[in-house]
Amino acid sequence: MARILITSAIPYINGIKHLGNLIGSQLPADLYARYQRGRGNEVMFLCATDEHGTPAELAAAKAGKPVAEYCAEMHGVQADIARRFGLSFDHFGRSSSPQNHRLTQHFAGKLAENGLIREVSEKQVYSKADGRFLPDRYIEGTCPNCGYEKARGDQCENCTKQLDPTDLIDPRSAISGSTDLEVRETKHLYLCQSQMKDQLDAWIDSKKDWPVLTTSIAKKWLHDGDGLQDRGITRDLDWGIPVRKGDEDWPGMEGKVFYVWFDAPIEYIACGAEWAEAKGKTDADWERWWRTDKGADDVRYVQFMGKDNVPFHTLSFPATILGSREPWKMVDHLKSFNYLNYDGGQFSTSQGRGVFMDQALDILPADYWRWWLLSHAPESSDAEFTWENFQASVNKDLADVLGNFVSRITKFCRSKFGEEVPAGGAWGGTREEALIAELTRRIRAYEAHMEAMEVRKSAQELRAIWVAGNEYLQNAAPWTLFKTDPEQAAAQVRLGLNLIRLYAVLSAPFIPESAAKMMAAMHCTDWSWPGDVTEALGTLAPGHAFTVPEVLFAKITDEQREEWQARFSGQRS
Ligand code: MF3
Ligand code: ZN
Repeated sequence: MARILITSAIPYINGIKHLGNLIGSQLPADLYARYQRGRGNEVMFLCATDEHGTPAELAAAKAGKPVAEYCAEMHGVQADIARRFGLSFDHFGRSSSPQNHRLTQHFAGKLAENGLIREVSEKQVYSKADGRFLPDRYIEGTCPNCGYEKARGDQCENCTKQLDPTDLIDPRSAISGSTDLEVRETKHLYLCQSQMKDQLDAWIDSKKDWPVLTTSIAKKWLHDGDGLQDRGITRDLDWGIPVRKGDEDWPGMEGKVFYVWFDAPIEYIACGAEWAEAKGKTDADWERWWRTDKGADDVRYVQFMGKDNVPFHTLSFPATILGSREPWKMVDHLKSFNYLNYDGGQFSTSQGRGVFMDQALDILPADYWRWWLLSHAPESSDAEFTWENFQASVNKDLADVLGNFVSRITKFCRSKFGEEVPAGGAWGGTREEALIAELTRRIRAYEAHMEAMEVRKSAQELRAIWVAGNEYLQNAAPWTLFKTDPEQAAAQVRLGLNLIRLYAVLSAPFIPESAAKMMAAMHCTDWSWPGDVTEALGTLAPGHAFTVPEVLFAKITDEQREEWQARFSGQRS
């Protein structure tokens, strides 16, 4: 039994995620986790909310709530939606947890001890009325380029020009509106990544099986221009993890917190500690996943993320771990995704454009979305969601192929043999031989694609496996044969019913709720993965009772499609 550690990029706390976010990390990570569990491997699948930083503060202010309260509430909302989408995290943690506070401060202390942190004095805008330094985006003023009056210190939303706060005309605090601003000196900590350049380079070179897309992004940051730059890891904010050196104060750093991108990936590890606490386990229980000196050397660690996250996971986070000179488990394989677009444009959280996870579940069950998203995952290039494509995919793959197969065979059996697996006859003619050969070939291909995290190819193979069963039934036509050779028809129906169980096992990673319904309809709890296909198709013996299930997948009508298309064409209110 292999041990597999899986993390998905942890979603920002501010607001509900859209379907583009979902397919960019959490959903494919779940597919992989479910598959590996299905194969009998030991899996630890971790995710969390990314709770610190300016966006969290701004969202809380907008909601009129203290930021800690806002985060606690939104964590609950995101956890609930994740559960309803069938995301099977072993733990869904929070980057604001006490465990992450401790571990982040611990890493900073180790990095300092190893001479990898330096202090830098910087000039930054201070607001006397607010009693705080203002991050660039907390400063508003008139854009020097287009005259827009609400330009932010980092960028003008109107003309998209990148700005420096000092470029703004009539600058004011976005918090209080105060214009009583001044530039002050403030000290920050920098992680000396440049010193670790060769070590990182060698580490990336050792990853022979990583996709070129991943390594080329890392190499670019390592070698382009002046090479890998040191990185500020502290901020003048209230909300975040206080800057400390392990358990000790950090003189001169009072009132400062770590930068969100410093503490967020550390939460992957802290989340393991949160899991242990939540499940009443010991430190040894989570450390055997995360410490190579405590059992994690035989763990395979896979990360899932969108392409914009790749630099942080190939350079910054590894720099933190390598720089600690402690035996933490590092990533073995990194699976990254391109973007999913929405109906001729981009999904956008800030503009409320596209379909968000809660809205998706309001109109259809999770499996419909899971199937479409996974079978159209933006792997080799960006992909696009359109309602026409969604409708076609659901109606053809799920309703016409899989749903129809299940309903046809169970209903036919009930009408001719009753609600139990019929006895009599024996299958094993050329038709069955051909089917078994095809299924065997396709199941082995499906396994290989799943192992390789080739999401689209896995979906295509699974669909082909469903089609093979449908075609067998179509050609064997037990409903006709029944009139002349009821024994032979019984054998075919027995095979068909066993195929339902087999499909439940194979399809569960993609459509877990429907797979569970199929298994329940077969009155079966045997989820064992098919080795020998002939043997797997003999699991349900003659006399085994079943129930004709409710319709598994309803077709999407043209009226529904048009209604949703109109409903989701504008901004989310
Ligand atoms: N919150 C980030 C995003 O959604 C991802 C953080 S991943 C981690 O893009 F590694 F920092 F945890
Ligand atoms: Zn402008």
